[in-house]
Formats: sequence, structure tokens, C-alpha cells
Amino acid sequence: MVRLAVIGGALQGMELAYLARKAGYETVVVDRDPGAPALNLGDHREIIDPLMDPMSLMNIISDCDAVVPANENIMLLNSLVGLTKAAEVPFLFDIDAYRITSSKIQSNQMFTELGIKSPHEWPRCGFPAVVKPSSCSGSKGFRVVKTPDELHDALHYVSEIGHEPVVQKFLSGRNLSLEAIRDGTTSTTYLTTEILLDDRYDCKGVFCSPNLVSEEVEEKLQEYSVKIADQLGLSGLMDVEAVMDEGEPHLLEVDARFPSQTPAAILHASGVNLLDELYSILIEGGQPRKPKRGFSLYEHFTSVNGLLRSCGEKRFSSVHAPEIIPGFYGCDEAITDYRVGCQKWSAAIMISGQNEEEILTRRRDCIARMMADNGLSIYIDPKPAEAL
Ligand SMILES: Nc1ncnc2c1ncn2[C@@H]1O[C@H](COP(=O)(O)OP(=O)(O)OP(=O)(O)O)[C@@H](O)[C@H]1O
Ligand SMILES: [Mg+2]
Repeated sequence: MVRLAVIGGALQGMELAYLARKAGYETVVVDRDPGAPALNLGDHREIIDPLMDPMSLMNIISDCDAVVPANENIMLLNSLVGLTKAAEVPFLFDIDAYRITSSKIQSNQMFTELGIKSPHEWPRCGFPAVVKPSSCSGSKGFRVVKTPDELHDALHYVSEIGHEPVVQKFLSGRNLSLEAIRDGTTSTTYLTTEILLDDRYDCKGVFCSPNLVSEEVEEKLQEYSVKIADQLGLSGLMDVEAVMDEGEPHLLEVDARFPSQTPAAILHASGVNLLDELYSILIEGGQPRKPKRGFSLYEHFTSVNGLLRSCGEKRFSSVHAPEIIPGFYGCDEAITDYRVGCQKWSAAIMISGQNEEEILTRRRDCIARMMADNGLSIYIDPKPAEAL
């Protein structure tokens, strides 16, 4: 059995601990915060600050078959490169690719060099425009601006939080995501998924369907991903995010790190576990698996004060001591801190089906059952204002 150390217990850590469980791995989840939710999903929990106590971390990882980071702290990631090397344990991460892709400014330059379409930049783009920090995640600091005053305020905010801004054209099409694993020479891409956004452009869900986009769009996205992975010389996993405009995908970003939400949705749609793929391809020299082109939905919900609402990943990440509950209110499976009678809870539900209609029916039933059983009278499904 593979024994995997997951360094970080927040959203990415939950995803990895969940996938590791599904793959039958044994996991050790490490975080300095005893309240970190992924600690509850692993087989073993270690509460240490790896930057303050590297020797304890060395002891933990020495016993493992591989280490995978679930954090975006560059100091910690650098230290993990050294520690895994010293402990002679494989590190499922490409720090050089990560360094480039964690900067949207550098990524956009790479897109231009590779002839990859991305939204026009300021001032060519005009209004409405998007202002976002070059190197943050989880939609932090993202704003849509429509006037010079709003642009000025958004730029001020990005500089106040200590980042450089990216200003580009706001495109209102569907958001798509695609993962690629590259073994150092050859890339494999997996399923194209749709990213569903809340009113703050935070990811509230992921939808998988073979009918999501045309074959041409899918091929274009795959071609872009392979070009980028080659350019990065990637040895690991990355995902690209794109927005549709005039029938073509425009790349928003690339991230050379294990994402959250999309891999769980892909597992339920296709049976392919991206963590297991990464381990098998990189460590065991295994052949990539071909994913079944199925249907699935992954969605976050939260309930408080008698309300049920779909929510973004930021809100979901405050889930407390979650568990994996098969068949939760009729869905396939949920990661949730729901306990009978509790007033405040969150759940990430996963649903698969034979077609889109079955997914939507099962989703409706699941929402109705969550509401009826808990006496909830209102359901809110926030969407980006610009999409209304
Ligand atoms: N130019 C754009 N036009 C329309 N929507 C955009 C644009 N740029 C970003 N977005 C939306 O805002 C969200 C956050 O974008 P951003 O590029 O800041 O990603 P991020 O915070 O790095 O996300 P992640 O956590 O997935 O890495 C995206 O998922 C996308 O839906
Ligand atoms: Mg990002």
C-alpha cells in the first residue's frame, strides 16, 4: 500500500486526502493548525509547523513512499524540496514550473510567446476589465471594473495587499479547466470540466460532461496544455483555466500544482483518480489511463440560519472536522461536517449520472432532501452579477 505524506491540511489537502482514500493509500496529513480540516480525512495526523520543526517532518516523510504539497507557501515548498531530497523520498511537485505559473504576469508572457489566445490586456481591452493580483489563488483580490474610478480602487487594493496587478479584458463566457500530467517528456491530458462560479467568482462547483464543448474547443485546450507543459519542461501535474469567447478558449492561467474540486469531479465522471495517475506515471513509470467520458457534478453547499446556499471554495474551506459520507441525502458521496441537529454545516457533494438530465434531477432531489430534513426554507444559488 502506498503511504503518502500530504503537507497542508486546507482545501488542497482535503482534495488529496479524499483522492488518496479513494485510491486505497495510507495518508499522513501534516498541518500546524490543529483545526485544519484535511487532518480529519487522513489516516494519520501530525500537528507540526514544518518550517519551525524540519527534523520532525524529516522523520514523518522518511517513512513515506512519496510527499505531495498541499500549500502555496513558497518558503515551505522550497524547504520541502531540500527535505525530500535529503530523506530520499519522491516529491510529487515541480517547483521550477510552479515558480513560473504562480505568476500570472509570467504565464501571460508565456501564452503570448506560444501563440496561445488569452484576454487582451489593458489598455487595449477597455472596460469592463478584470483586475487581479499576479500571484494569488482562490480568486483573492479579483474584481470586475467598469469605470476609471473602479480601476483606480482595484489597483490600489492589489498594491495594498503587496502584489502586482494583471488588468485584462473581462470575458463573460463559460469557464473551463483541464489537467495535464507530464512525466518529463510526454504529456497526458484528462477531462475538460466547467468551473461554476459564485457571486465573487469563487469556485462553487465543477461540472463534467462529454458535451460541454465542441471537439475543436477540447482539442484546442489540449493543444494549449501540451504546449505549456513542454515549455515548462514539466515533471508533474498542472491545470489550465480558460474562458470561452467568440467560440474559442482564452487562457486565464496555468497552475503547476495539485488543484482542488476538479479531480474529485473527474473521478466521479470517469473513474480516473488524478492522484493515483500522478503517482503511477511519475514514480512507477505506469501508462496513463484513458478516462471514460462520463457525467458528474461536484458542488459546495453551506447551511446557516435556516438557509441553504451553494458557496465558493473559500466558504467551504472553513468546514470543521469533515467526514466522507456515502449517499449523503441521495448524492454519491459528500465531504461534510454535517451532524444530525447541527445548525451550521457545509458539504461538498458529488453526483454522477448517465446524462445531464439525471445529474440535474439528482441535484434537485438532494437539495430538496437537505432542506426538508433540516427545516430549511430558502435556497440561494449565487452567480456572478455580470452573468445575470
Ligand atoms: N479575464 C477574465 N474574464 C472573466 N473572468 C475571469 C477573468 N480572469 C479571471 N476570471 C475569473 O475569476 C476567477 C479567479 O481568477 P484568477 O485568475 O484570479 O484565478 P486564481 O485566483 O489564481 O484561481 P485558482 O485558485 O483557480 O488558481 C477565475 O476562475 C475566472 O472565473
Ligand atoms: Mg491560480
